Amino acid sequence: MTTIVATASQVKEGELLAVKVENQKVILSRIDGKVYAVENKCPHLGMPLAKGKVCDRVVTCRWHGASFDLTTGENVKWVDSFVGIPLPEWSHQALSIGKSAQGLKTFAVTEQGDEVSIG
Ligand code: FES
Repeated sequence: MTTIVATASQVKEGELLAVKVENQKVILSRIDGKVYAVENKCPHLGMPLAKGKVCDRVVTCRWHGASFDLTTGENVKWVDSFVGIPLPEWSHQALSIGKSAQGLKTFAVTEQGDEVSIG
């Protein structure tokens, strides 16, 4: 079953759009013209990734710096900072609080006419 979650014009290149699909929080992004969807929940402490920074196809969590490829959900970099302030490498293991690096859940996206659907 697919669910319409946005209009095509709402999903802008280089920006993040937070939507809800049933009980799931999802981020939509447009990379090189194509729309992608990943979960809007950082696997480190569960904070919303939609508040992160986007550079090319990567979103960086604003709290501790974990980064993810928006097109694949792959973890690019694990935690290394605190609200944008870089932390020394020796502290990164403590910062991870026992959580190992992991990627984001991805969702199938369809863009048809002015409708963006997930599912
Ligand atoms: S909550 Fe995202 S890196 Fe910590």
